[in-house]
Amino acid sequence: MIPLIRPYITGDAKRRVNEVLDSGFLTEGPVTRELETVVARYLGVAHCLAVTSCTTGLEMALRCLGVSDGDEVIVPDYTYPATASAVALVGATPVIVDVDPQTMVIDYDALEAAVTPATKAVIPVSLFGNPVDYDRLSTIKKKHGLFVIEDAACALGAEFKGRMVGACADISVFSCHPRKFVTTGEGGLVTTGNAEWAEWMLSFKHFGMGVHESRQCTSFDRIGTNLKLSNILAAVGLSQMDMVEELLDRRRQLAALYQEALKSLPGISLPTVTEGGLHSYQSFCVFVDERDRVMASMREKGVEVQIGTYSLHMHKAFNANDKVRLHGAMQGSRRAFEQCLTLPLFHEMTREELDTVVRLLAEEVG
Ligand SMILES: Cc1ncc(COP(=O)(O)O)c(C=O)c1O
Repeated sequence: MIPLIRPYITGDAKRRVNEVLDSGFLTEGPVTRELETVVARYLGVAHCLAVTSCTTGLEMALRCLGVSDGDEVIVPDYTYPATASAVALVGATPVIVDVDPQTMVIDYDALEAAVTPATKAVIPVSLFGNPVDYDRLSTIKKKHGLFVIEDAACALGAEFKGRMVGACADISVFSCHPRKFVTTGEGGLVTTGNAEWAEWMLSFKHFGMGVHESRQCTSFDRIGTNLKLSNILAAVGLSQMDMVEELLDRRRQLAALYQEALKSLPGISLPTVTEGGLHSYQSFCVFVDERDRVMASMREKGVEVQIGTYSLHMHKAFNANDKVRLHGAMQGSRRAFEQCLTLPLFHEMTREELDTVVRLLAEEVG
């Protein structure tokens, strides 16, 4: 079986985890702090907070910006449900709009058309590692006075016009789920340039504790919760961050090989990278007709291909819910949902494995 993804866990990660286990300091602590520092430095952003997942990080970001009942937050239709669910979980209304059928990221005209006086924020998604266009977003943000919280679940290492994803939005949130190439098993990373928000979130994720230099708890200043990421998981993430450039280079090399092999194959088209963007290829996707047949047949032949992601408007949680507003016909999203196929891509993938995937795909669509 050629897997869709295989986490790249080295001896170094195991050694670091063992060190934490031997230390007895298992909850969030100095190793988590180090991971936050390393990620913030890598992204060129002032603050990074480790949390339990991208989903809980998105929810925390919304609460931090005061988004609640009566507010609307615009999200793309073609995304993992977490993007919209986080909005509903804080009591606000997710307003779901279409995506561009070529880049599969939010359609900026659809976004703008959905803005109302109740719109407080937008959560664009740098889907599969393809960055959103921050120039377009910042124009819309300024014009309508919105917050931009980026769902960067899959976009560590992606760039837009020389700036790292994670340093461009008001608040960005990454996932460290094992399908991501920098993983902590489960976990998330929240970044922001705003010191006040960072302090609020630090307190919120530690039961609402007062934030002091010493990190000793002497007061509880607000209602909070527990979103801490343990030293054990952070040790895995730190080991991965040590080789983040190597991991990214390999992904981009494999993506380039796929592109070269697939670009002129009849029956296959490739998504477009955002203009000015540098893709991180968290997922490598193609568009094919009869995607479900192709997917089933390739799986039968030992290649673990997968759909891209979901079209929210096709699901009961979003289409039969008074607290959710669907805005527009979602044709771009529907096309992505029906035709997008994700191919295997992992650090140790060999040229032979890649050629096998290409050959079997060509047989299916030819
Ligand atoms: C776009 C997007 N947002 C959010 C999530 C949820 O991330 P997590 O599993 O870390 O909560 C995912 C998961 O893959 C995702 O793809």
